Amino acid sequence: MSYAEANRRYFDAISDSYDSKPWFKVVNDRVATTLRSDLSWVGIPFTDSTTQPVRLLDYACGTGLMTRVFGPYVTSTQGIDISPNMVSTYNTRARDAGISEDVVNAVVGDLFDKSDPNPEALSGERFWDFDIATKMNASIVVPHFTIDGVKQFFAEAGFVDVDVITMKEKNYMEFGGKKLWRTILFARGRRPMEGRDGSGKSEL
Ligand SMILES: C[S@@+](CC[C@H](N)C(=O)[O-])C[C@H]1O[C@@H](n2cnc3c(N)ncnc32)[C@H](O)[C@@H]1O
Repeated sequence: MSYAEANRRYFDAISDSYDSKPWFKVVNDRVATTLRSDLSWVGIPFTDSTTQPVRLLDYACGTGLMTRVFGPYVTSTQGIDISPNMVSTYNTRARDAGISEDVVNAVVGDLFDKSDPNPEALSGERFWDFDIATKMNASIVVPHFTIDGVKQFFAEAGFVDVDVITMKEKNYMEFGGKKLWRTILFARGRRPMEGRDGSGKSEL
């Protein structure tokens, strides 16, 4: 079974319980507080959202943690996730909260599939030209996210102004029956292009 298929099956199976555990709420709150405490580090505001749209891509969106963190600072969010059940939970929550599809919506997709790097389903205009892109990920088994490794990953992807910071305290998590203490790491980078107003646009 491919890594992507294993991920899809795993997250499909846990979509109902994914963020219902008390430890998740603690992590969730800490992530939100840390990111919102220095929005300029993230690159917000990079434009005036009162006069022009600010579009967020929440890649590997799951049930929508990053969508909720940045929701107040953007005008619309497009979620993408490999797990149909996660996408379903994400969209149900948005509709239950009274948020329309135009504002927050997720679709099933995998941009890491080397056999189909430009999937037809993700080719529409609404999947391009985001102002900010976020991808929240967790290393379940191997602690393979190192500061230098992530910096190199961002640099190789062509980002500039790359910076990586860590949360001071380790965070308790449970994945796949394992109890883990993990350091949460935040990375940001900016695509080297001119923004609509002449300033650079930031992407996480
Ligand atoms: C640890 S969860 C994080 C979910 C959410 N971003 C959050 O912060 O709660 C990882 C998510 O990545 C999704 N995922 C894994 N591999 C993916 C891929 N290749 N493309 C898109 N989504 C993927 C999983 O289905 C899962 O919802």
